[in-house]
Amino acid sequence: MIELVRIRKYQKKDKDDVRRIACDTGFVGRPIDPIFQDRDLWADALTSYYLDIEPESCFVVEDNGKVRGYLLGCVNLWKLELYISAIKMRMLGKIILRYLFAGYNKRTKKLIRYILFTRMGEEAKVVRNYAHLHINLEKGYRSRRIGTKLVQNFFDYLKKRNAKGCYAQTFGFRGSRSENFFRRLGFKEYDKVRIHIWDDYLKGAVYSVSMIKKFKTKNRKSFKH
Ligand SMILES: CC(C)(COP(=O)(O)OP(=O)(O)OC[C@H]1O[C@@H](n2cnc3c(N)ncnc32)[C@H](O)[C@@H]1OP(=O)(O)O)[C@@H](O)C(=O)NCCC(=O)NCCS
Repeated sequence: MIELVRIRKYQKKDKDDVRRIACDTGFVGRPIDPIFQDRDLWADALTSYYLDIEPESCFVVEDNGKVRGYLLGCVNLWKLELYISAIKMRMLGKIILRYLFAGYNKRTKKLIRYILFTRMGEEAKVVRNYAHLHINLEKGYRSRRIGTKLVQNFFDYLKKRNAKGCYAQTFGFRGSRSENFFRRLGFKEYDKVRIHIWDDYLKGAVYSVSMIKKFKTKNRKSFKH
């Protein structure tokens, strides 16, 4: 059978698909809807910087013309941080208005309170001066080495830009396989913090984990943490 799945650069026309997949995989690979009912807000939070400001660092998985997964990349963390400070007040206003008037259910309101008041102290450290990525595939497209190819493709992209390396943040919990996925690609654990965002939905401890991969370059000093 001819393999029709391919990895290509993100294009503007993919935006709705990427936003949809961000929601369909938002709860550790499962749909976010039972936990958070505002897909628009969820997709904004997860994808806007990458799709609007740094689309050149984004890639999609396409099968027969349909987008089935993505990798959203950021080469310079400071750009993302600048973006967040620029939109923070507008985003906050939107969230508060919706919290008060959009008729959200209890779970949605609880998650918003968590994000606004607790999450700051519950996130594994980011890695300064390193690029980072977010990756998600639709259900039928997992365990077929597509994720591996997407990340390797991103590494090639980063190396051409002389990046020092790359990090990714993921969730660690009993039964989670994403840490292994990154380990297989040569990532190592950089930081791990116990978090409570999914306490009502997952059994056992859940961790925010940041994982790092340093690229080998001849003239650079070794990374220490
Ligand atoms: C995590 C994810 C990107 C991995 O991509 P993938 O194409 O499924 O993974 P690959 O086939 O390239 O590699 C599989 C390896 O990664 C690990 N792995 C991670 N998640 C896995 C999953 N859901 N299914 C199977 N293997 C997984 C295993 O170690 C596996 O190795 P093995 O086959 O020897 O056991 C993809 O499964 C996914 O999108 N999952 C749901 C959402 C998610 O967890 N995203 C990560 C957020 S940081």
